[in-house]
Amino acid sequence: MNGPNLNLLGRREPDHYGRTTLKEIEDDLRSYASARGAELRFVQSNHEGALIDAIQSAIGWADALVVNPAALTHTSVGLRDALLSANLPTVEVHLSNIYRREEFRRHSLIADVAVGQIAGFGAFSYLLGLQAALHVLENRKS
Ligand code: DQA
Repeated sequence: MNGPNLNLLGRREPDHYGRTTLKEIEDDLRSYASARGAELRFVQSNHEGALIDAIQSAIGWADALVVNPAALTHTSVGLRDALLSANLPTVEVHLSNIYRREEFRRHSLIADVAVGQIAGFGAFSYLLGLQAALHVLENRKS
């Protein structure tokens, strides 16, 4: 799940976010997921309510969430509450290392409701996030 402005990846502040597009990230994750026998649903929205709806509808089918809430990471109690309600293992992902940037980015309202956080590896953060989510699910089974 991807929050505001991530649809512009590839041309948005490439010094922070790189030149890989969201479509390229999605394609990469899809092929990784299918090789691992996992079904992936991919969502991006610029609207907080649409993301909350997406989290709520994930309750019916998803085993885990990989979430880059983008700017909403730092502001959205609503998104945090939706994740708490969903009660699904959640991996928080950021392209940039939010701890090396402006002060206001250093606080995540999601971090303590997530299993863990991956930040700073550009587009590769998403692949690490998906691997982490699958790892959590594997460990739960055994
Ligand atoms: C981001 C970091 C956020 O602070 C920012 O608002 C974003 C992207 C990242 O992936 O590095 O939009 O979540």
